[in-house]
Amino acid sequence: MGWLNSDITAVGRRMYSNKAGEATADKLSVLGAAYPTDGWTNTTPVILQKTGRGLLHQPSHPLAILKELIFQQFPDFAYYDSLNPVVTTQQNFDSLGFSEDHPGRAKSDTYYINGDTLLRTHTSAHQLQLLKAGSSGDNVLLAQARNGHVAPANERFLVAADVYRRDEIDASHYPVFHQMEGVCTFARSEVNEQLRQTGKTGQTVEFSDSNPLQIEHTAAEASYLVEDMKRTMNNMVAAILARADGGQDGFPVRWIDASFPFTSPSWEMEVLFRGEWLEICGCGITRQSMMRNAGVPQRIGWAFGFGLERLAMLLFGVPDIRLFWSHDPRFAAQFSPGNISTFKPFSRHPPCTKDVSFWVSHAAPFHENDLMDLLRVTAGDLIEGTQLIDSFTHPASGRTSHCYRITYCSMDRNVTNEEINAIQDQVRAAMVAQLGVTLR
Ligand code: DAH
Repeated sequence: MGWLNSDITAVGRRMYSNKAGEATADKLSVLGAAYPTDGWTNTTPVILQKTGRGLLHQPSHPLAILKELIFQQFPDFAYYDSLNPVVTTQQNFDSLGFSEDHPGRAKSDTYYINGDTLLRTHTSAHQLQLLKAGSSGDNVLLAQARNGHVAPANERFLVAADVYRRDEIDASHYPVFHQMEGVCTFARSEVNEQLRQTGKTGQTVEFSDSNPLQIEHTAAEASYLVEDMKRTMNNMVAAILARADGGQDGFPVRWIDASFPFTSPSWEMEVLFRGEWLEICGCGITRQSMMRNAGVPQRIGWAFGFGLERLAMLLFGVPDIRLFWSHDPRFAAQFSPGNISTFKPFSRHPPCTKDVSFWVSHAAPFHENDLMDLLRVTAGDLIEGTQLIDSFTHPASGRTSHCYRITYCSMDRNVTNEEINAIQDQVRAAMVAQLGVTLR
């Protein structure tokens, strides 16, 4: 959850002032709808293009295959996989109890359309809206569920979707990825009736001061929810891992205490898979304030959210996250719906590296994510990765210098040195113009 820890920087961004001319336009168009821009706008055209790719709707795409396998594990949940990525700051942050100064809101980490609107940074953005749609009978929203009749009042639902975060570039980070959200609620009276019948009227789960149960829940209620959540998630992961090539039946799981604004207690679930602890998801007991805000104060529940890419990379043996976005038919042709098969690498096109060294200006603080977006705008998916290879501060002048090594490589074709030199020249010019740095 990288963005839970990053710094707030309120530097004026000009990232969207690129060759597509969006800087002068006072509107940004996303999936056919126009939105006014303002000083918060930092979504680049390269990112906007991704909103239309629909990887989760290509039946033979590994991410879509994984999505369907997970949906199948939850036969009595409603499924959503077509919700618009443009959400309000209210949905993405406020509705979930994110504080005003939460680092996740920083412009350096989030793609804003304008001050009120952004590209969702997580599928949790839809939790309150969907719970509310169930309680108020919002048929327009309920009808967007693929199988809404199964769990009519959105008492249980899954949301699979593309999410957007400004981030570094490397083999496992991409500014767009996919998450699966799960929300499961119960009538409080029924839970208590069941607890009475089974004689489980006490606490059966450990809580700690740093990861407490909510004062609004009894220890027995919270224990019930935690046990149900962990059992459900264990079963889901077991079913998926068992389908992988050489799939394992039993697997060790560990639950790491975590903290999210909208759950308490909270955990991260990790699974030992092929010798590596893999962080599967964040999860926890939904804050009762959210249930009240959703118009279902008489219900209690749990939720999880996990990233599909890391699991898909492991299950399908995909070595680089950019391959999911490749247009190369040699990628797509390898997979088929319902099957987890191992990716057979096709020849990698040769990479080309270029270094750029520069002085940071005192007047314009340098933020690495700005460089990453600049690179994406200028070179798109030709950027394979970046590495900070040198940094120092001059003892006399106090000025700081950085040197980045940029690796260019195409997933689809050979690139020539001349082509990369031309792009590198554009990158250097854009760095001066947009980041205010002095090249060395
Ligand atoms: N939205 C969180 C993230 O992207 C993940 C998450 C944590 C989702 C806990 C949940 C949850 O539903 O209960 O970092």
